[in-house]
Amino acid sequence: MRVKKAVIPAAGLGTRFLPVSKALPKEMLPIVDKPTIQYVIEEAVDAGIKDILIITGRNKQAIEDHFDRSIELELVLQKKGKNNDLKEMQQISELANIFYIRQKEPLGLGHAVLCARQFVGNEPFAVLLGDDVIHARVPCIGQMAAVYSEKGNTVLGVQQVGWDNIHKYGAVEPEEKPESVVRVRQLTEKPSREEAKSDLAVLGRYIIDPEIFAILEDTAPGSGGEIQLTDALNTMAERQPVWAYTFEGRRYDVGDRLGFLEATIEFALRREELASGLKTFLAGLQSNQL
Ligand code: UTP
Repeated sequence: MRVKKAVIPAAGLGTRFLPVSKALPKEMLPIVDKPTIQYVIEEAVDAGIKDILIITGRNKQAIEDHFDRSIELELVLQKKGKNNDLKEMQQISELANIFYIRQKEPLGLGHAVLCARQFVGNEPFAVLLGDDVIHARVPCIGQMAAVYSEKGNTVLGVQQVGWDNIHKYGAVEPEEKPESVVRVRQLTEKPSREEAKSDLAVLGRYIIDPEIFAILEDTAPGSGGEIQLTDALNTMAERQPVWAYTFEGRRYDVGDRLGFLEATIEFALRREELASGLKTFLAGLQSNQL
């Protein structure tokens, strides 16, 4: 079955990025001049997914405004003859069929995904975290949808993050020696280095079988008192195959201060009109004492 729907959880409080995330959704933090969540939506659209549900919460109004039309702005741009800007603004509001639902309390990623049950129905669906951006030749979620169509079961997007970093992620215990697609025996949320069975981490992209909803309903709060998607996926792995796929691409955790800075610099360096000025600036920095 083809993956036609995507869910973007964006209701988290963003406590790793205070104070800016107090009133501004971290998903709206700009990478150069585009909000993070727009990159995420463009990835889904580039992979042929047009129906997208964003899970929002309090203080997240700016996300809806961004993907809505702004008639006032369009009129001003039209009057000034700024036709390229006008076209770009109109394209943002026509990117996809975007739906919204509010998660009334941030009770965890698993709980956020459960809010999508009605929208998803009984088909496989994609989950893309609203603060994880992946730069890839082929959209990451498209790579994963291809694996899904071959395997017909849940697929998790993973990469090796190194043993010193695995404690920050959901870690995979693979059934056999890791290859690009490997069956998952078990997942552990934020394991210590000693607990982790591999340094393969789940990095914000999933294609999930709809059975997850029934499982999530029965999943008790776990690590941090939150309903963890990892716990529900573990139950799923006991009942049917779950696959870990090592995707091709560079992933940025924009909800983390350093990840945000890395994304900002690398995306700017990929822009022709900014690259040379930024390179000169960075070279100058290296020779200066800060
Ligand atoms: P994170 O753990 O990165 O988000 O969740 P957070 O809780 O906002 O971050 P910190 O740790 O406090 O800084 C991954 C994704 O899941 C969403 C977040 O918005 C983010 O996109 N999420 C998380 C929800 O939608 N609801 C939740 O209850 C928790």
